[in-house]
Amino acid sequence: MIAFQDPLNQLPWKASTFVDDIDGVYYLTLYICAFFFVLITGVLGYSVIKWRRRSPTQPPASLVTHNTMLEVIWTVIPLIIVMVLFAWGWKGALDMTVAPADARQYQVTGQQWSWSIKHPGDPRPVANEMWVEIGKPAKMTMFSTDVLHAFYIPAFRVKRDVIPGRKQMLWFEPTSLGDFNIFCAEYCGQDHSRMIGKVHVVDAETFAKKPWQSHPEDPVEWGADIWDRQCKACHTVDGAALIGPTWKGLWGSTRELAVGGANAVVDEAYVAESIKQPEAKKAKGFEKVAMAMLPLDDEQIAAVIAYMKTLK
Ligand code: CUA
Repeated sequence: MIAFQDPLNQLPWKASTFVDDIDGVYYLTLYICAFFFVLITGVLGYSVIKWRRRSPTQPPASLVTHNTMLEVIWTVIPLIIVMVLFAWGWKGALDMTVAPADARQYQVTGQQWSWSIKHPGDPRPVANEMWVEIGKPAKMTMFSTDVLHAFYIPAFRVKRDVIPGRKQMLWFEPTSLGDFNIFCAEYCGQDHSRMIGKVHVVDAETFAKKPWQSHPEDPVEWGADIWDRQCKACHTVDGAALIGPTWKGLWGSTRELAVGGANAVVDEAYVAESIKQPEAKKAKGFEKVAMAMLPLDDEQIAAVIAYMKTLK
């Protein structure tokens, strides 16, 4: 991985054009605080010892109540410092608010508990993974289908809340090749801590091959891959109980439905409907479980079914 770590090893990977400003303000603030901490506690400690009262009867050493020059100095210097911090921070905030006109457009949707990401010019979303080209600005338009999430890439120094009913924006320009973590930085329910992803920064040649579209040729392998990325948080394949029904032995079985008392056989139509409209025919025992709307298309659903058929 080509990336640089910071001198004090405090901040994560540096991999976007925002890093210099944000880390600069951070380190300036840190150094100012360290300087004044030493100065103030030093002078204070020295004075306490040097001019301490040595006996109960010792009269006050001086009756001075203030010093105008000193007060002007300790007002003006901090004022200058906070104005510098403000100006630098404001410039950085403005940079992050306005994306370059030629930025590539991505769509990010947060839902409990995964990210689905649409790449430029491609309607099929990818779960928890995205590819961006080094040196090219990328702009995310972000939505939430349920609750508050926050899209956070520490290596790029970007984080934005993703809010139901509102469109949010975030952009960055990656400067280092490699894989970097995406986190959800807003507590959003039981599996918040598992709402993680990867952003792959690749060169122009790799990007042109649209790596996000690649998937296993074999439908069963592809289905297993989809399960691994998007389904396994709720559905096991070994018969163990989790939030949703296990897939082991599910295919071809007869399910008693939660509403109406009717039965349904788990076949192609039932699985497809349950993925597209999770609320339509819930099985008994899972009435209270709200399945996430997974943005799978028909080809992906067919792969899931192919995999499910192997789970006897
Ligand atoms: Cu989504 Cu925390």
